[in-house]
Amino acid sequence: MPDPTYRIAVLASGRGSNLQALLDAIARGALAAKIVGVFSDKADAVALRRARHAGVHAEAIEPRAFPNRLVFDEAFFARVDAARPDLIVCAGYMRLISEAAVDAHRGRLVNIHPSLLPAFKGLRTHAQALAAGTAEHGASVHFVTPDLDGGPVIAQARVPVLPGDDAEALARRVLAREHPLLVATVALLARGRAHLAGDTVMFDGLPLAAPLQLGANQAFA
Ligand code: GRF
Repeated sequence: MPDPTYRIAVLASGRGSNLQALLDAIARGALAAKIVGVFSDKADAVALRRARHAGVHAEAIEPRAFPNRLVFDEAFFARVDAARPDLIVCAGYMRLISEAAVDAHRGRLVNIHPSLLPAFKGLRTHAQALAAGTAEHGASVHFVTPDLDGGPVIAQARVPVLPGDDAEALARRVLAREHPLLVATVALLARGRAHLAGDTVMFDGLPLAAPLQLGANQAFA
C-alpha cells in the first residue's frame, strides 16, 4: 500500500527555529506530516543538528564545490527530490534559487519571510520596517516564484511595532509568530486546502483574494 503520509523537505541555512516548530508540531500530533529530509548549503547549520536530534535525514551540500548557481542547484535539488517531498519549505534558506529549480518545483516550494509582503522584501526586514516607521510588521508564507520574495502569499501573521523597539526586539516578536504561522500554513497545504493555480492561491476551492491572517488562537480568522 502506498504511504499516505504528507512528505516535507526543509531547506535551512542557519538556526532552524522554524524547522524546530515543524518538528515539534509533528511530534505533538498537531501536523499530520513527516519531515523526510533537511537540506542546507552550510555544513555547520544548527538546523542540521536539530534534524539529526529528531532522527531526520540531514544533509549539507556546499556551493563552493560547484562552478555556478545553476549547477549547484541541479545537484542540491537532485538530493532534495530524492527524498520525494510533496512540499519543500524554505525556512531560513539564505540562498537565491535559480529560476530553473524554482520552475521545476512550482506549487510545491514555499518560503517564510519576516515581513508583511509585499512590504520589505530582501534582507534586514526588521530594520527596514523600523526605518519606514510602520505601525505593523509580521511574517508571510508564500509560494516561491522567480520573483524574489514576490510569489503569491498564502498567509500572514501580524505584530505591532512598539515604541522603543530596535531590530532585535522586533525580530523576536515576529519570530514568535512565525512558528505558529508556518505550522498552520503547512497544515493547510498538507490537508490539500490550499494550493497554487497559475499565479493564484486557491483556498478551499476558491481564489484567495487576500492572504489568510493568523489569529491569536493560532488559527486562521
Ligand atoms: C526567519 O526569520 C525566517 O522568516 C527567515 O529567516 C529566519 C530563519 O530563522 N527567512 P530560523 O533559522 O528558522 O530560526
